Amino acid sequence: MTMPMSSAPEPISLEPVTTGPVTRGPRPPSGRPVPGSPDGGAGHDGAYAARTVGLVKVYGTGETAVRALDGIDLVVQRGRFTAIMGPSGSGKSTLLHCVAGLETATAGQVFLGETELSALDDTRLTLLRRERVGFVFQTFNLLPTLTAEENIVLPLELAGRRVDRDRLTALAASLGLGDRLRHRPAELSGGQQQRVAVARALLPGPDLVVADEPTGNLDSRSGAEVLTLLRSAVRETGQTVVMVTHDPIAAGYADRVVMLADGRIAGIMDDPTAARVLEVLQRHDGALRGTCGGTGVDSTGTGGGTGTGGRPEGDNGTGIHRGDGLLTTGTGIDGGGCVR
Ligand SMILES: Nc1ncnc2c1ncn2[C@@H]1O[C@H](COP(=O)(O)OP(=O)(O)OP(=O)(O)O)[C@@H](O)[C@H]1O
Ligand SMILES: [Mg+2]
Repeated sequence: MTMPMSSAPEPISLEPVTTGPVTRGPRPPSGRPVPGSPDGGAGHDGAYAARTVGLVKVYGTGETAVRALDGIDLVVQRGRFTAIMGPSGSGKSTLLHCVAGLETATAGQVFLGETELSALDDTRLTLLRRERVGFVFQTFNLLPTLTAEENIVLPLELAGRRVDRDRLTALAASLGLGDRLRHRPAELSGGQQQRVAVARALLPGPDLVVADEPTGNLDSRSGAEVLTLLRSAVRETGQTVVMVTHDPIAAGYADRVVMLADGRIAGIMDDPTAARVLEVLQRHDGALRGTCGGTGVDSTGTGGGTGTGGRPEGDNGTGIHRGDGLLTTGTGIDGGGCVR
């Protein structure tokens, strides 16, 4: 069922997607402008790490076909932290997988930097994933027989690449694990394991790190440590990160939130705080509220007035009065599919 915008208690503004440059944090080297591209919020210099143009993904055929993505024009800003939110089934993981070369598009295009993924055969796609993308999964996916450090360096060793010991040392320090790097995953907490997984993704210096609900299995404190690690990589080394999350608090660590609803972009929020994200979810109630399930933060609880867990520096606490909130790109948000 399609829910017209006017049925929301307080309609969100129907303004174009923000196109101004993002001003916070280090500015890594720019990519070239995207000729003829719908900007999608890349900023005036067109600095993007990845982008999609009219991306459609259909699973199955005939009556059972599922249109998971329905024409996504997305720009992933280089050196920025992007969060993707939306109700369960809205296409978040599918979008992440398409951008990371784990899934192929049914129609439209996906670019990682200048490389169009649909032009690659399976072997090249595998190489691209190995050399240019880092992955963080909800379930950590560490090899149980290896120590934390061996897990971290494994992708580089498999690729026959040299391990940069200085970078490893710096990363290890930021993990806050001390000598536990010599322990196996079973001897580490969930939060520690996920920090190891983040380090494994970051060490090779990939063009893009994708994380699908990286805090989904963690308590709030461990989640905050993982998110801080991801955000530091973006701020301090210009790493590009795209993270799927249901949790407004996690989204508050990002530079930009992209909201999906029924396989389409429903809106974009720059410089989000947990409170602003939550406020938008509350305003759109059924259409987007399924995004709140991640850590038990519900639409009436934590975060509403305090900005809990949002970026601690540089905001006004609530974030609600700053900026335009969610800027919609379409004429409506489909209300179905919100199961949480
Ligand atoms: N391999 C698949 N085969 C068939 N349908 C699929 C497949 N993967 C995903 N889908 C469908 O595509 C739609 C989008 O799924 P996706 O996993 O991207 O959603 P999501 O937003 O990540 O949801 P969640 O928050 O529950 O993880 C859903 O309707 C889902 O059932
Ligand atoms: Mg998913």
